[in-house]
Amino acid sequence: MDGAQFRQWQALLEQRTGVCVSQQRQAYLQTSLGARMRELGIGDYQAYYEHITAGIDGALEWSALIEWLTVRETSFMRHRASYDCVAQFLAGRLSGSRGPLQLWSVGCASGEEAYSLAIIMEQALAQAGQDRRDYGIWASDISQRALDQARLGHYAAGRLGGLTGAEVEQWLQPLQGGQYRVAPALRDRVCFTRLNILELAQAPIRDLDIIFCQNLLIYFRRWRRRNLLNQLALRLAPGGMLVIGPGEIMDWNNPLLEPVADDRVQAYRRRGSMECLE
Ligand SMILES: C[S@@+](CC[C@H](N)C(=O)[O-])C[C@H]1O[C@@H](n2cnc3c(N)ncnc32)[C@H](O)[C@@H]1O
Repeated sequence: MDGAQFRQWQALLEQRTGVCVSQQRQAYLQTSLGARMRELGIGDYQAYYEHITAGIDGALEWSALIEWLTVRETSFMRHRASYDCVAQFLAGRLSGSRGPLQLWSVGCASGEEAYSLAIIMEQALAQAGQDRRDYGIWASDISQRALDQARLGHYAAGRLGGLTGAEVEQWLQPLQGGQYRVAPALRDRVCFTRLNILELAQAPIRDLDIIFCQNLLIYFRRWRRRNLLNQLALRLAPGGMLVIGPGEIMDWNNPLLEPVADDRVQAYRRRGSMECLE
């Protein structure tokens, strides 16, 4: 792949997904494209580019290529402090009498993040002594393959990452071959849906109590991160909380939000509720 071809592919990927592949990651782009091109028997980057940018066949091929280009690394409770922060938020929320809670895992990959949120939610309900199950978790990603895995809810032991032994025992059922299956009680609460975050405006999801978006924006340019975070802020219910990965954005603030005072996490509360003013 020569320099001009790299820039062409780089621009296409960024325009369609927001993901910006730096010059240092050219080898990664080349390997991913090469793998798909071998499957198709195409030996030339230019010919493949022209195929993928033309007509309905190109559009179909683009959805297949996405599976090769996305980085879907994830695990349960990947950044535990962020989940502790959610737990603290929920404890406050559940002590008042409020309606159903809505959470959203944005860029959920194969579902570990969404199911981790469900575990935290179940623990918060148990601690509050509530037996209601009127909460829902949206989970979205651009990758269809990731969403298929997420809906299936089967995971290798290595993906259980930050779960405690007790959490594994309670929420994951062992299967043959070292795999685990997420308990139906958690699966029933999560709705997985395909969404390109660049098309956020089309998503009817709003009035969220928690928006959890980690390790997605890091692949985007800073101006786009700010822009998307501003859009996510508008999707929060008053008093709701946005949680991103630590260090994912610096020098960003939004008048609707105030930062959560906890150095271990990067989280923001939407102003506008009594709890927020406490
Ligand atoms: C590294 S994973 C992060 C998974 C999880 N949030 C975590 O922190 O463990 C990034 C995910 O973002 C998804 N992604 C990349 N570009 C996207 C876009 N434009 N819209 C929605 N999801 C996207 C990828 O498919 C991938 O599953």
